[in-house]
Amino acid sequence: MSKQTASFNKALRDIARLINSDTIASEKLQRLVALAPRPLAVRGCSLLLLDEDRTRLIHLAARGISERYLRKGFIEADKSLSETLEGKVVSVVDAAADPRIQFRELARQEHIASIMSVPVRIRGRVAGSLRVYSRTRREFILEEQEYLETVANLAGVMLDAEDTRGSRNQMLGDVATPGPKAGSPLKPETFAHPSEEEFARLLDFYQIEWLYEPRSFPLQWDNGKITEMFTPDFYLPGQDLYIEMTTLKPSLTTEKRQKVRRLRQLYPEVNIKLMGRNDCDRLLAKYDHGPLSGSKTRGIGRVLFSTPQIQRRVRQLAKEISRRHEGERPLLVGVMRGVFVFMADLARHLTVPVDIDFMAISYYGAEKGGAVRVTKDLDINPEGRHVLMVEDIVDTGMTLSFVLSYLRTRSPRSLSVCTLFDKTAHRLADVQLDYVGFEVPDEFLVGYGLDFDEEYRNLPFVALLKEERPESEADR
Ligand code: IMP
Ligand code: MG
Repeated sequence: MSKQTASFNKALRDIARLINSDTIASEKLQRLVALAPRPLAVRGCSLLLLDEDRTRLIHLAARGISERYLRKGFIEADKSLSETLEGKVVSVVDAAADPRIQFRELARQEHIASIMSVPVRIRGRVAGSLRVYSRTRREFILEEQEYLETVANLAGVMLDAEDTRGSRNQMLGDVATPGPKAGSPLKPETFAHPSEEEFARLLDFYQIEWLYEPRSFPLQWDNGKITEMFTPDFYLPGQDLYIEMTTLKPSLTTEKRQKVRRLRQLYPEVNIKLMGRNDCDRLLAKYDHGPLSGSKTRGIGRVLFSTPQIQRRVRQLAKEISRRHEGERPLLVGVMRGVFVFMADLARHLTVPVDIDFMAISYYGAEKGGAVRVTKDLDINPEGRHVLMVEDIVDTGMTLSFVLSYLRTRSPRSLSVCTLFDKTAHRLADVQLDYVGFEVPDEFLVGYGLDFDEEYRNLPFVALLKEERPESEADR
């Protein structure tokens, strides 16, 4: 038996034993990524899992790569070695130059030269990937690929077993969770404290991507069992910074300070900042005096959809549309003006060639039951074309219904509708929506193209208007 075969055997024996042992799940993961790279003589290893909607990869465990590299932000499934997620083994010889790598510059800074990535399947379905990172440029030979695939299969069995015992979530919780699950991973249903919600809104305002309580750090162990954990409130991937707010009870502040101190000792590579009430108030004051201070109206209230949330959804819609129009050249039609922001973003994510045109209509006389009319017609003839109506928001559906019946008179080959927001509460006209970004409640939205009295169209996120304050308070 060759020396290399012997080292593969030993590593597989150790890994199989580990998986079948009584070790707690999070510890198993950590040890797996420590054992796996050994016979390959590489510098590091990571295990990534797809999130629920299979659009992002989340690091479950990693070894030998820096915290900065791990926390580099979301890894978009379709931008990071996506062939792995189609079930293929991928070898990247030059990570800093390979377009299949999402964070090439960071790879260069971290001296990651080559990467091998194999799919992790759970009961046959691809659920993530196992990767090894090499400091020097190299190609991986077949035996090395086959070894890593075997490890990935064992990892899949382990994840499945932990899952059926209901502890996969706990395992995720121990290591690195993708944030709260419900709805959007970025927007928790509830915050522990209103000041956290305010802070989140502030971050949205400045377009700073954030995660709420994305990761728990074990602080204390007893016989391999974690006895104390600490979960910072926010993580800002762009800044590689954790933030712990101390605006809650002052009695808790001392305890928090101690925990933060201990976290810094145990995880010196982690950046964390404590944020007191004063810091927070200062920031919030800045918010009120920010770019919206000249507002002639009420000002914006709660943020409903953050910039990253919208962007993610727009990308998904574009993917769906591109798939359905493969081999075609659809004509996108927008009704001015609210749709201009969505149209611009959507169009840039489409992978099929398109034509783009706009119409304008006026509600002239509408209040007297009068007609809607076209004030700017299409410049491109829609006859025989696959026409996709792009709308910012469908409320009663009257606008859309009017435009659709007009377009039908121009004999398009097909006619479908994509709207970013669907407000169903007041629907009057029966219109079929083929692609819907978000269903929204019966509230008035502003931002991302939507206006209130022509204001707020340029906000990069979508918010509600501020509640009208009672007279007495408004006077002050
Ligand atoms: P519909 O004809 O009632 O479906 O209204 C559609 C148009 O009303 C949209 O294109 C918007 O211009 C406007 N609209 C409806 N709801 C909102 C909102 O919440 N904010 C801003 N504009 C809205
Ligand atoms: Mg509109």
